[in-house]
Amino acid sequence: MHDLGAREKNQSHFPNLGLGLGLRAPHFNEVLTGTPRVSWFEVISENFMGIAGGTGGMPLEKLVRIREKFPIVMHGVSLNIGSSDPLDLNYLNQLKQLAHFIEPRWVSDHFCWTGVDGKNLHDLMPLPYTKETVNHLCERIQFCQEYLGRRLVFENVSSYIEFKHSEMPEWEFVSDIARRTGCGLLVDVNNIYVSSFNHGYDPLKYLRAIPIENVAQIHLAGHSTAGSILIDTHDHPVSPEVWQLYGEAIKIFGDVSTMIERDDHIPDYLTLENEILLAEAYLIKNRHPLTANHKDSLYERIAFT
Ligand SMILES: [Fe+2]
Repeated sequence: MHDLGAREKNQSHFPNLGLGLGLRAPHFNEVLTGTPRVSWFEVISENFMGIAGGTGGMPLEKLVRIREKFPIVMHGVSLNIGSSDPLDLNYLNQLKQLAHFIEPRWVSDHFCWTGVDGKNLHDLMPLPYTKETVNHLCERIQFCQEYLGRRLVFENVSSYIEFKHSEMPEWEFVSDIARRTGCGLLVDVNNIYVSSFNHGYDPLKYLRAIPIENVAQIHLAGHSTAGSILIDTHDHPVSPEVWQLYGEAIKIFGDVSTMIERDDHIPDYLTLENEILLAEAYLIKNRHPLTANHKDSLYERIAFT
């Protein structure tokens, strides 16, 4: 199996969709009947899999209507790309069907493993950062990209343990895989902050090491404190420290499609929408001066009306 050619890697920059939100079931009706001020939505792929292509359950029917108005990005949690189990072709086939049906701007999952020996742990487990793991993931990502006929995007996960036999820092691990496979990077700024706190490294060092040309998207989320560590709980607003780190990310990457994910203690839609619109304040403050003349700013409309 061959790496994607340099031309193919370079020509397929991911578009900047602006500010988006993770679409959650409690907000379906609000998004359909209201006038959302964000410009795109991310959906969890598994919530719609197995029903694409005809049987059309209610959530899929609503998603199709939302898709008519907004770009959609598919975000998966079960590809299990890092496992030693064989890739699940049934899962890949369902993912392919859904992507064909929804036509998302891109499809993402995580640099992690979620199960082994056929058992699903329903969590995003960290990997040992070794050359062997890099090779393992590259081979599997290349297979998935060829199977799905599209460039995939992978997200850094938060972690609470490290493997003694890791041979490189996480940022080198994800960067090597992105360069070799041409996959996009979903940079979860909160995950970087959480992991950097838990493991005692400089989160800016992580951001500065990432190949900018592979960055497709940014995730923002809230976390919780549990004793001496931070937990990636997605049940709080984005913390001030993560907002600051997001500003640094914008200085490094420029404008990148950005969204907030909230999976517990989900507030009403407008509260969540106002939170993601704060991101534009950080964009305006931190983007390159040549692109700073951003008229008709969503943030300014909110702030001054
Ligand atoms: Fe995330």
